[in-house]
Amino acid sequence: MVERDLCQTGIEELDIQLGGGIPTGSTVLMVGSSGSGKTTMCMQFLINGAKKGERGVFFTITEPLFKLTKNMEGFDFYDKELIESGMVNLIDLRIISERLGLDTEKYTVEDASALLDILRDIADELNVKRLVMDSITALCYRLQSKEMIRDFIFKLGSSLAAMKCTTLLTSEIPPRVFQYSQYGIEEFISDGIMFLGDIERKGDLIRTFQLIKMRGANHSRAKSAMSISSKNGIELAPLLRSRE
Ligand SMILES: Nc1ncnc2c1ncn2[C@@H]1O[C@H](COP(=O)(O)OP(=O)(O)OP(=O)(O)O)[C@@H](O)[C@H]1O
Ligand SMILES: [Mg+2]
Repeated sequence: MVERDLCQTGIEELDIQLGGGIPTGSTVLMVGSSGSGKTTMCMQFLINGAKKGERGVFFTITEPLFKLTKNMEGFDFYDKELIESGMVNLIDLRIISERLGLDTEKYTVEDASALLDILRDIADELNVKRLVMDSITALCYRLQSKEMIRDFIFKLGSSLAAMKCTTLLTSEIPPRVFQYSQYGIEEFISDGIMFLGDIERKGDLIRTFQLIKMRGANHSRAKSAMSISSKNGIELAPLLRSRE
């Protein structure tokens, strides 16, 4: 059997569930509704990688960089020096689009292609091993047809895989629904899907995490409880089933 290179997320329980880590070069959809922890988990993934010497890039299209860093500063795992030293690069896609002279709200086929080239060039030039796009939903919203979305994600995924860059794409869904994406395309092009949800128990909302798919990995599909804390960031634990 051929052993695949694995990209450790550094979130201990998640790596165990993955059988060691995400197969290197995969494109993974991180699905969840607002506040489910997508951005936090993606940042933790990048910071953990940077601590091991793997450079990363975080493309945001939903929130300005000052807001993103302000929120992340609340977590002990966040290390400003890794940002300042360029081990984790934070890039606002709206600013890139503006600089390219694109309409920041709507991309034509040519715009999408120019953007794709820029993303690839940045990833290539920085020699990043980990890439985050937060969110693919907001990016797809700017593309104007399902064909454009499919083409964009497919090309992005395959060029990053060729660079052995492991990618997390965040996918925003409405609360309390069990779907993976807004456009119904993103999940088919992704190698893996992670679902951040919640369940209500005795009036409390408990965060949950579930690995839905991961091509090339013998992974767990059990639903876990997930917690977010300043001290430890995202943590997973077995979901204790209540007897009621
Ligand atoms: N310092 C902190 N300590 C503990 N929990 C925190 C801290 N900061 C944020 N949180 C929790 O994390 C949640 C936000 O997580 P995050 O921003 O990663 O979610 P998201 O899925 O990216 O949301 P959105 O779709 O709105 O961008 C907050 O609603 C809060 O419950
Ligand atoms: Mg977010």
